[in-house]
Amino acid sequence: MESKLIDLPVFKDHRGSLVAIEGQRNIPFEIKRIYYILGTENNEPRGFHAHKNLQQLMVCLKGSCVLTLDNGKSKSKVLLNNPGQGIIVDKMVWREMSEFTKDCIILVLANDYYKEDDYIRNYQDFKYLLKMN
Ligand code: TYD
Repeated sequence: MESKLIDLPVFKDHRGSLVAIEGQRNIPFEIKRIYYILGTENNEPRGFHAHKNLQQLMVCLKGSCVLTLDNGKSKSKVLLNNPGQGIIVDKMVWREMSEFTKDCIILVLANDYYKEDDYIRNYQDFKYLLKMN
């Protein structure tokens, strides 16, 4: 599976909008963990890692930021600013997040618990492991 933007089901009426995400239905994995990133007032870039196995869906609930994805062959930059869309970030994809607005809130759904040994935090190691796969 490659990283890709997906449209989420948005139920909009006069009261506002509700967006629903179901594991194995709207997204191609079961959800084991949810976390969110907020308080990005200092606009400090973050990420700078890949995962050996983890798959994630990232949704920008508020504000915006720029997500840079690198699968070793090509790099892409995506502006995350739409709570009605999510981006699937596959395993073995280097990700960096930058250009946060002060009000930015990023919701992340993941298919596994937090495991530090699943992280690849060094870009040279990432390139090496891609070659070995
Ligand atoms: P970090 O990996 O640095 O964030 P980013 O994805 O932006 O690179 O995570 C920040 C801190 O939060 C770090 O101490 C690890 C911790 N953490 C957890 O305990 N559980 C989690 O699910 C995540 C994603 C991070």
